[in-house]
Amino acid sequence: MSNRSDLKMRLECLFPTPVWRTRLTGFERENARMLREVETLYGAEPALERSNVLGWHSRDDLQCRPAFAPLARLALRLIETEVASVLKLDTKQHRFVIASMWAVRNQKFAYNFVHRHPDCFFSGVYYLQSPDPSAALNFHDPRADVRMLRPPLREETPYTQHIRSYQPEAGALVVFPSWLPHDVSPNLSDSPRIAVSFDITSVSPTRRPVKRHRKS
Ligand SMILES: [Fe+2]
Repeated sequence: MSNRSDLKMRLECLFPTPVWRTRLTGFERENARMLREVETLYGAEPALERSNVLGWHSRDDLQCRPAFAPLARLALRLIETEVASVLKLDTKQHRFVIASMWAVRNQKFAYNFVHRHPDCFFSGVYYLQSPDPSAALNFHDPRADVRMLRPPLREETPYTQHIRSYQPEAGALVVFPSWLPHDVSPNLSDSPRIAVSFDITSVSPTRRPVKRHRKS
């Protein structure tokens, strides 16, 4: 048994959870167009019931509307480049597609309870308007066993956090695995928090798209 004081251990991170973030620049005209479209739909259509509490959830086929096509194209390009590069996705045999896209308009005190997005691979959220930094997007560690016992900590690190929060900022885009549980904190501002979310699946010459049962 070694008693050398300089003995080091190699650190390996098992089962890492990737979350991608970026900020869209030069997208102001598209943002304004999407905002107008969301407000028009908000005034015309009832909310779908998903994870939204007090907030309005739009229809989930926004990717078919011209105002949202630029965001849909951009999301797919990021999946087929950066996400594909990290995860070694098979983009030759499989084509990634937007399965659904929807807007959530959270007025004051509205929030979204913890949920996942079943039946798809990747999900994302793009913030059109986010006046209140408290209305965070909170990701939850899905590994139930890590909560069994926590060692005494001097401070939290990515190894010990059970919840990781991102402050919403207009123009920010977050992409994450669809199985990752998440919620949205209440909007404490008088102005609505407006975001566009999407789910991505894949198709191949021999497979039909994954059949969807629901989404949030
Ligand atoms: Fe969600």
